[in-house]
Amino acid sequence: MQSVSFYRDKFEEYLSSSIGDREPRSLYEPMFYILKLGGKRLRPVLTILSADLFGGETKDAFKAAMAIEYFHNFSLIHDDIMDAAPLRRGKITVHKKWDINTGILSGDAMLIEAYRFLETYPPEVFKELTVLFNKTAIEVCEGQQYDIDFETREEVSVSEYLKMIRYKTAVLVGGAMKMGAITAGASEAEQDKIYNFGLYLGIAFQLQDDYLDVFGDPKTFGKQTGGDIIENKKTYLYLKALEQGDANQARELKDLFSIQPRNTEKKIRRVMEIYDQSGASEETKQAIAHYTNKAFEFLNQLDISQENKEVLLSFGRDLMGRKV
Ligand code: IPE
Ligand code: IPE
Ligand code: MG
Ligand code: MG
Ligand code: MG
Repeated sequence: MQSVSFYRDKFEEYLSSSIGDREPRSLYEPMFYILKLGGKRLRPVLTILSADLFGGETKDAFKAAMAIEYFHNFSLIHDDIMDAAPLRRGKITVHKKWDINTGILSGDAMLIEAYRFLETYPPEVFKELTVLFNKTAIEVCEGQQYDIDFETREEVSVSEYLKMIRYKTAVLVGGAMKMGAITAGASEAEQDKIYNFGLYLGIAFQLQDDYLDVFGDPKTFGKQTGGDIIENKKTYLYLKALEQGDANQARELKDLFSIQPRNTEKKIRRVMEIYDQSGASEETKQAIAHYTNKAFEFLNQLDISQENKEVLLSFGRDLMGRKV
């Protein structure tokens, strides 16, 4: 098995070669803009690694990996509109650089392009990939809607939050890995295990994203820090602060999340203090480790060499410590 960085470079080359001049410019330019902003390429790399893991020809996994990365970037353009986000990957977001209508249509076109990458697979594989892709895509929409609904909903439980992040984020990571396994012709039992590995890794990944949204370094994180606080997102940090904080901290936090203050900097600073003092920050770090370890349990069930397991274990550990 090759290294993660080897496949990241290969994928990057493949992606670049798919980008060219197309008309109308105003439709394609924003698509290529976001694709060229980079990003970690986490999901497509996992698709290719997974194909490799199950003894497939990795070149057969590249189209599926492209479908996943296009879908992911489509979801980011629309997510940034929904979250009113000014920054993505350290650069101005599509709807801010152009406008909201451009973001909507370029996003839609990226979603359609994502499906087109699957067209070249043999009928049986195409069918399997498309069924999984559709299931995953609709779940992402459901997760995104819960996320938005929770902003204004009074009570959200931890289990509701976990379901929301499973849908909006984790199923795509699990789906990315399962697609790689499908292209390699892995058995259903193996497909399920690698899906669950990706799913729990995805849950840990979103918890980490919520943590970095508050405590990350804006220079490396590439997104506006405090964005979730401004948008009143009911993250794990928020829910744990309500649960673990004293009555005063809980009341103050609820008050801060029920208003849109003129001084957002002050709100962000105060919420950060409450997250730290209530123990919510620590709880979140523990939850990230917990779900990463759960992912590793599924990895251990796979009948693959220890050497290959190590590649994915260290990938998972690196994700836990990520700053970007
Ligand atoms: C951002 O995903 C959206 C989330 C699910 C948190 P990534 O953090 O993988 O974004 P890029 O592709 O690396 O920019
Ligand atoms: C992203 O959740 C989930 C999807 C894009 C589907 P976030 O809203 O937390 O992602 P970021 O923080 O903007 O990348
Ligand atoms: Mg967002
Ligand atoms: Mg969002
Ligand atoms: Mg986020």
